[in-house]
Amino acid sequence: MEIITSIREMQRWSEARRRERKIIAFVPTMGFLHEGHLSLVREGKRRGDVVVVSIFVNPIQFNQPSDFATYPRNVEQDRRMLEAIATDVLFLPEAAEMYPPGFQTTVEVETVSRPLCGAFRPGHFRGVATVVTKLFNIVKPHLALFGEKDFQQCVVIRRMVQDLNFDLEIITMPTVREPDGLAMSSRNARLSPAERQSSLCLSRALRKAQEVVRQGERRSAVILQVVRDEIAKEPQVRIEYATLANPETLEDVAEVAGPTLLALAAWVGEVRLIDNCILQ
Ligand code: PAF
Repeated sequence: MEIITSIREMQRWSEARRRERKIIAFVPTMGFLHEGHLSLVREGKRRGDVVVVSIFVNPIQFNQPSDFATYPRNVEQDRRMLEAIATDVLFLPEAAEMYPPGFQTTVEVETVSRPLCGAFRPGHFRGVATVVTKLFNIVKPHLALFGEKDFQQCVVIRRMVQDLNFDLEIITMPTVREPDGLAMSSRNARLSPAERQSSLCLSRALRKAQEVVRQGERRSAVILQVVRDEIAKEPQVRIEYATLANPETLEDVAEVAGPTLLALAAWVGEVRLIDNCILQ
């Protein structure tokens, strides 16, 4: 696996692969990799000729400095995991080169960035859209892969790619879960054993919601109450939002009348977790 840290060198590498008519698959990450990321890399290998993975803990998408400071990092462990699955390039840009003095251009995807996480993390999706735009211009991929655990991020990026005519395909992959149901996330590493146990109420709440919908319930208010009641059983868990929304527009829906996104965010101690599912 080649490790590239300079933006110009990454661009040259990609230009050379493009001249060879190789399909470049790209998995942008913030590192501390888990099986969810690896599933994206494997799918990238299946669909492309070469796979580039970036690790960059993007300072401008953190709305709390403490969250940026405590975000888990272990590049050496990540490097070994990526090498084991034959990743072609690990791109490790420097913050000083990504955001040099004078940097002032950002990308704002308006409506779909506002609800759900956007309502609680001002500027977060502007930071995501900006860094993803920069990474697309640097890595020049034919396809880019994202995990559906960050459902709103997938919607924001698809919208941006369409609106700004990026010449690439976005592929999203299902959330990968631990055997007990917890959605894999780099942030899970920050949970104490007791918090990790409590956090299982999130995936349990999603399953309960799916169950009541299967039994015929359609009213959002009733379904969301089932979710809130399940989460309330865990005193360590503080719900930030639970919403039923149209999975394309992310607008709230009053009832489940087709595929509907159930998205939630909650604080488990100092750690913010998100999870979601599609109710059919
Ligand atoms: O999902 C993530 O890890 C990040 O938001 C991303 C897409 C790598 C941008 O920093």
